[in-house]
Amino acid sequence: MPEVAAAGRSVVDALRDATSALAASETPRLDAELLLAEVLGVARERLVVDAQAQLNRAQLTAFHALLARREAREPVAYILGRKDFRRITLSVDRRVLIPRPETELLVEAGLSSPVGASVVDVGTGSGAVALALKSERPDLAVWGVDVDADALVVARENGLRLGVGVEFVQADLLDGLDRRFDAVLANLPYVAAGAELPPDVARYEPASALFAGADGLDVIRRLVGNRPDTDLMALEVGFDQADAVAALLLEAGFSSVERLRDLAGHERVVVARR
Ligand SMILES: C[S@@+](CC[C@H](N)C(=O)[O-])C[C@H]1O[C@@H](n2cnc3c(N)ncnc32)[C@H](O)[C@@H]1O
Repeated sequence: MPEVAAAGRSVVDALRDATSALAASETPRLDAELLLAEVLGVARERLVVDAQAQLNRAQLTAFHALLARREAREPVAYILGRKDFRRITLSVDRRVLIPRPETELLVEAGLSSPVGASVVDVGTGSGAVALALKSERPDLAVWGVDVDADALVVARENGLRLGVGVEFVQADLLDGLDRRFDAVLANLPYVAAGAELPPDVARYEPASALFAGADGLDVIRRLVGNRPDTDLMALEVGFDQADAVAALLLEAGFSSVERLRDLAGHERVVVARR
């Protein structure tokens, strides 16, 4: 195969070169493997088995194009156009925040809902929380709300593709939604204005999904201050915001507050109950 000879790069060599090119990433080897697996149309695990296989010129060119995007700090999830979240895979692009592992705690809070309860995911973005919850608890009536029409397009497409029946609605928090929800889950913007973020986030993810005023709590304060009539409210917060948000929830009349920790041990979700 003349193409192979011209390209002259095995999977193992290409991965080694790519890993050093991506040294600025937190996970250079993983990123390189995900991008090469995408180009070859195989599962990442297959790269170990095919370590000595040669890349043809087209494959090498395609791999270098994806690497260049990652070297410019574009997140892997945007390059691939998808992100796994609990048991589902969401399509993502720059219109929506990339779902994070700690946000799975919000889904866990929602799973405690009684059979047939109504649950709303406020600031749904890609639809991650609402769709994961409904896919695991089809008995629940799940809604997803976002103020951003572009994000809702992505969320609705994810719902259709996954065949998961969530009602997606455009609204500013819960304003104008003329109904009660048994549980309110929300991963709203909570980054303080001017905070320094990694380039992958700052350059590519939507600012409207991140920033919320001087202390990062403007949007959460407004949601809690509106005192929604609900039995449970679970809010994702920044690693140093749990105390402030717990106080807001108690002031708003909730009787008990619990904090859930992420894998790093930080309190990242505050759950309040009536
Ligand atoms: C941090 S992102 C979370 C996205 C998704 N829930 C997730 O966890 O991946 C915050 C989302 O809240 C939305 N948002 C911001 N302000 C809002 C508001 N006032 N009302 C409703 N949604 C809002 C943004 O458009 C964005 O999609």
